Amino acid sequence: MKERKKEKVVIFDTTLRDGEQSPGFSMNIDEKIRFAEQLVKLNVDVMEAGFPVISQGDFDAVQLIAERARGIRVAALARANTKDIDAAAKAIRKAELPRIHTFISSSDIHIEYQLKKTREEVLRLAVEAVKYAAGFVKDIEFSPMDATRSDLGYLSEMVAAVIDAGAGTVNIPDTVGYTIPTEFYRKLRHLFDHVPNISNAVISVHCHNDLGLAVANSLAAIEAGARQIECTVNGIGERAGNTSMEEIVMAIKTRSDLYNVYTEVNTRQIMSTSKLLSRITGVSVQPNKAVVGENAFAHESGIHQDGVLKNSMTYEIMKPEDVGISRSTLVLGKHSGRHAVLERLRSLGFDLSPDEMDRFFKYFKDLADRKKEIYDEDLVTLVSEAMYREEGKRRYKVENVQISTGMQSPPMAMVTLKDHYNNSSISFEVAHGNGGVDAGINAVKKLTGTRAKLRSFNLVAITGGSDALSEVSALIVEEYNGRELKVFGVGHSIDISVAGIFSFVDGLNKLEYMKMAGEAGERMKKALP
Ligand code: KIV
Ligand code: ZN
Repeated sequence: MKERKKEKVVIFDTTLRDGEQSPGFSMNIDEKIRFAEQLVKLNVDVMEAGFPVISQGDFDAVQLIAERARGIRVAALARANTKDIDAAAKAIRKAELPRIHTFISSSDIHIEYQLKKTREEVLRLAVEAVKYAAGFVKDIEFSPMDATRSDLGYLSEMVAAVIDAGAGTVNIPDTVGYTIPTEFYRKLRHLFDHVPNISNAVISVHCHNDLGLAVANSLAAIEAGARQIECTVNGIGERAGNTSMEEIVMAIKTRSDLYNVYTEVNTRQIMSTSKLLSRITGVSVQPNKAVVGENAFAHESGIHQDGVLKNSMTYEIMKPEDVGISRSTLVLGKHSGRHAVLERLRSLGFDLSPDEMDRFFKYFKDLADRKKEIYDEDLVTLVSEAMYREEGKRRYKVENVQISTGMQSPPMAMVTLKDHYNNSSISFEVAHGNGGVDAGINAVKKLTGTRAKLRSFNLVAITGGSDALSEVSALIVEEYNGRELKVFGVGHSIDISVAGIFSFVDGLNKLEYMKMAGEAGERMKKALP
């Protein structure tokens, strides 16, 4: 029998829009750009860069991403009105492959209570929005929000009308994460069977995870004929999140015997992308998270270990290498040469320019002097330290930390700080506290005069052993112009207390950055690389 040709599923990443808008996941422009660059490496087809009308910050971020990203479609979200669409069109004007994604609710509950309109009015607005957007770009996506709780007849009518109006992609969102796989399959099949012009558009789905079914629903949608999946890295997003990018992509790849489809995602970039997001947002994934959790490829039981050593496929359905985790036993250390380190970085998916490599190598040598064995996870962390936390964009730099603590003497820390906004002056302060971190943070507070407060503190040992590289992410808040600014500061060091102090200073730098953005967005743009 002749084999059917595999069809491509478009991967639409909305980490920077649906993901970023959820509490605790906000990013500054610098972080959005860094993450967008990683999405290009991951090779998703579309990245939804933001919702430009929402704030100047969102607009600026979408505009910068659109200007820089090449070889990837950049989408901007807009409600079905001219003001939103104007903002979206302006923000993506310089994109190589621009898309406007416009939406309006189609469920009666939203139409009646939220929009306070009739079905007819909403249908008209949907069609007008698509036509208006078509005046700016060729590539238009339309979403009938809350589609899974909408009347199927009305939904079919809307889908047909927006396709006629020019939508090339129609997305069917399960906005409140309400549907289940068999029902979603049936609803989508209904659309395929009853919307006469449906073959003129790509049908997409956007599933929320309120019942933990987002990935399962997306797979059911593929079976029904959907050929675009909207998803986010680590599954972040409104409430319980969205379809997780890594899970859906690996499900398609691993069960290619069942699904006659493929994606073009570079799966070897999955782990670095997941880790980058965790570092930027300060939110780690749960250890047992599918695909990217710390335990996803760890085998604890003797029987499993034995089987995996004899043939990895005995207990592993995916190869760790395929998601960017190296099985290599080659451990780097202070004797490792530049070439070996470069090769290792390449195998992890990092292709550094000579300049970046110079910067990176300094961090590497510094860590290798203090830590015997450097693992891949350490390298990934160091890359972001070296590339993302470039000097010059940050106000403060910790020059030195000295901590004395013990059971009988009160903990005391001396911190030396450089202030780039103040002629790069260097000063130091000594302070006491309840432990080394607290003492160090008190010293930083004295030096900077900041009113920022540390609200939560999360410590992770990145690699095992008592000389593990530790990562601290701290939630830091500050009242500013009547608003509460909130950032996650991240710090790494072999010493837990030093990592804690670094995380606080990183948070202060991000707060400075946010204030600068509010006061002079233009200045911030110039500060970007
Ligand atoms: O969940 C949702 O319905 C959305 C739309 C804007 C697609 O995020
Ligand atoms: Zn959503």
